[in-house]
Amino acid sequence: MINDIEKVYYSEETLRSIVQRLGKQISEDYKGKNLLLVSVLKGSVIFMADLMRAITVPCAIDFMCVSSYKNKTESSGVVKIIKDLDIDLQGYDVLIVEDILDSGKTLSYLKKILLSRNPKSIKICTLLDKPERRAVDDIFADYSGAEVPDEFVVGYGLDYDEKYRNLPFIGVLKREIYEK
Ligand code: IMP
Ligand code: MG
Repeated sequence: MINDIEKVYYSEETLRSIVQRLGKQISEDYKGKNLLLVSVLKGSVIFMADLMRAITVPCAIDFMCVSSYKNKTESSGVVKIIKDLDIDLQGYDVLIVEDILDSGKTLSYLKKILLSRNPKSIKICTLLDKPERRAVDDIFADYSGAEVPDEFVVGYGLDYDEKYRNLPFIGVLKREIYEK
């Protein structure tokens, strides 16, 4: 598995400090609010688990699974809800937790759906942001861990063809793997 990685972008140690910084900021901003973390499955699962432990104010959690991918590396723009939330959003300050903000199509769609359910507020926290790739103009990260250039990254929850999610760091996949 590790032989398929071209280079490491963010080591375990760097990821830990990124997550601590985000957790601290979110804890300050959501003091006295009614925070609900909404994890977008499956890519954000490791980030979510670490981020929620770096948050020191009370919070509820829920999970949603959407599918946006026609092929393995490009967003299709068509988003399907595979698993919906259990919690009614009314009265909650929702923070969507994403692994990576790429074209933004997935989050643009998701945010509209969640907004229609009348939460008190809604914001986006993404571990990684690929600003060069943005294809919608209504989506930005309220909290962003780090920017990555236009390269396909895997690890720490992010996959290629359902693999590499269990790598503890974020790395770039060798081109020969996804151009096969
Ligand atoms: P968007 O709709 O194009 O913003 O796609 C967002 C989703 O695409 C993310 O939640 C990831 O699941 C996936 N994605 C985008 N870029 C990458 C990448 O570099 N590695 C792994 N998954 C990615
Ligand atoms: Mg994802």
